[in-house]
Amino acid sequence: MTTTGDELRDEVRRRYAESALAVERGGGCGCGSGSCCVDDDDATPAAVFGETLYDSAQRGELPETAVLASLGCGNPTAVAELREGETVLDLGSGGGIDVILSARRVGSAGLAFGVDMTDEMLALARRNAEEAGATNAIFLKGVIEQVPLPAESVDVVISNCVVNLSVDKPAVLTEMARVLKPGGRIGISDVVAEDRLSPEERAQRGSHVGCIAGALSRGEYVAGLEAAGFENVSVEFTHEVADGMHGAIVKATRASGPRRTRLPVLQPAAAGCC
Ligand SMILES: C[S@@+](CC[C@H](N)C(=O)[O-])C[C@H]1O[C@@H](n2cnc3c(N)ncnc32)[C@H](O)[C@@H]1O
Repeated sequence: MTTTGDELRDEVRRRYAESALAVERGGGCGCGSGSCCVDDDDATPAAVFGETLYDSAQRGELPETAVLASLGCGNPTAVAELREGETVLDLGSGGGIDVILSARRVGSAGLAFGVDMTDEMLALARRNAEEAGATNAIFLKGVIEQVPLPAESVDVVISNCVVNLSVDKPAVLTEMARVLKPGGRIGISDVVAEDRLSPEERAQRGSHVGCIAGALSRGEYVAGLEAAGFENVSVEFTHEVADGMHGAIVKATRASGPRRTRLPVLQPAAAGCC
């Protein structure tokens, strides 16, 4: 059975709506494993995703529901080197953990935007930001393939375990380049495959909604970012989440010259999803 892009995106939305509601009810993300970025059928240990990737000082400055709703595979706020007064954008902001932490880092002269397509997650994130007193944290409804912000309006793009969920990764990388100011940078946590794994082999290791099957390989990430107009691209593996698949930190700078037009990058097969 093949799954279309729209069906896959709906499945992702349903899955994360369920997570947000589970957190509201006072539980974990409700997927039976402590993190929604682990499907119940996946062999991936839950400890490689979620709140344990933040240090206790960071967790201490957040509302409990923001910590509980953490579904990432890294800590982009720790790698993005945010500065006072900057504008930050988090793609797929979930319960808001990275937006709230970024809002603190950039201070009252800065802004932290989160974009997410799931209403339940947006509602949770807005409540968390209010509870945290993060008045410079703004959550927008939208898809990361078509970001609802103007061109060249952002200093830093961050994201935590979301690019792998996209059904149109070239569009996401192109949008990152569009919204960034020339010289702007990305600091992204994501699941990334070793180049030796075919899309089919990635799908054997976990589902799409579980953040495994849709992962790009390191070479695909580098080629995709360069095609979208980024330079100084690095993809550093930090911890293994499945055989040949890793939590990774992806960094790059938007080239100062004119933006390139969209070029294709390899899209892993959606096989094995759901
Ligand atoms: C694995 S969770 C990560 C949430 C958050 N970044 C974190 O670290 O806790 C994925 C989030 O991305 C959102 N998402 C997935 N695909 C998206 C897309 N194409 N456009 C916008 N949001 C998306 C989901 O609604 C969900 O909130």
